Amino acid sequence: MAEANGPNEAREAEEPKEAGTLLLEARDLLSGYVPEVDIVRGCDVEVAAGELVSVIGPNGAGKSTLIKSLFGLVPVRGGTIYFEENEVTRFPTHRLVEAGIGYVPQTENVFPTLTVEENLEMGAYLRPKVIQERYEELFEWFPILAERRSQRAGTMSGGQRQLVALARALMLQPSLLLLDEPSAGLSPANVDVIFDRIQLINSKGVAILMVEQNAKRALAMSDRGYVLEMGQNRFTGPGEELLNDPKVADLYLGGRAKG
Ligand SMILES: Nc1ncnc2c1ncn2[C@@H]1O[C@H](COP(=O)(O)OP(=O)(O)O)[C@@H](O)[C@H]1O
Ligand SMILES: [Mg+2]
Repeated sequence: MAEANGPNEAREAEEPKEAGTLLLEARDLLSGYVPEVDIVRGCDVEVAAGELVSVIGPNGAGKSTLIKSLFGLVPVRGGTIYFEENEVTRFPTHRLVEAGIGYVPQTENVFPTLTVEENLEMGAYLRPKVIQERYEELFEWFPILAERRSQRAGTMSGGQRQLVALARALMLQPSLLLLDEPSAGLSPANVDVIFDRIQLINSKGVAILMVEQNAKRALAMSDRGYVLEMGQNRFTGPGEELLNDPKVADLYLGGRAKG
């Protein structure tokens, strides 16, 4: 369990997720912001089609840097990244978006002076023709945004802004969504809303790789998880297994999970 196992070992006979195909495969990733300072130091990450995968670990472990490296926002110095079996190492972000990857940063993830609709539009600037039809589906998934489509994002609550950010990242129908701390700074009620929507998005077939501080909740809803520490994989396994592993619980979850 402490090793990076194949992504589907604990899947059993779960439907309807299409198990099997590897969507994202990062091997031995080395990356960092300035030359000669590696923040991500040999990470392996896999996400299969339709999977929900969490990355947890202490502050400063390199979780955000890992996600940004996968999205072309931090220079990758070593290792390889495959997406849908094509090598995409060091691809610029816009090509990763075209390939089917979406990303929601932890902070500053909406344009505050733009309306909800305009924010969503920005998510589809690469393919303006799809905008109208995407609105329909996304407003179905996020009814509150339909009601507030003309409201400026900066005047909305933190929870609603997070929904705008999620919807914007979904405008181009990514097959993989990278989320950096989607529940950060939200009230407990809004955390519920966000996790519920994340599960809905995943149930529609969108694979998700999510960094979360709310480690117990994240692992409980994940197919698999990674525990990152000092830029390296410490533990990897099915979400439930990590949740119930005494070492993981003591070190990273503030004590052992009940039950
Ligand atoms: N923009 C940046 N420039 C230089 N160093 C950074 C930058 N962002 C983060 N770091 C450093 O990278 C390390 C990992 O940070 P981060 O990936 O944000 O960790 P986490 O998301 O796990 O809390 C930290 O030591 C942090 O100081
Ligand atoms: Mg972070």
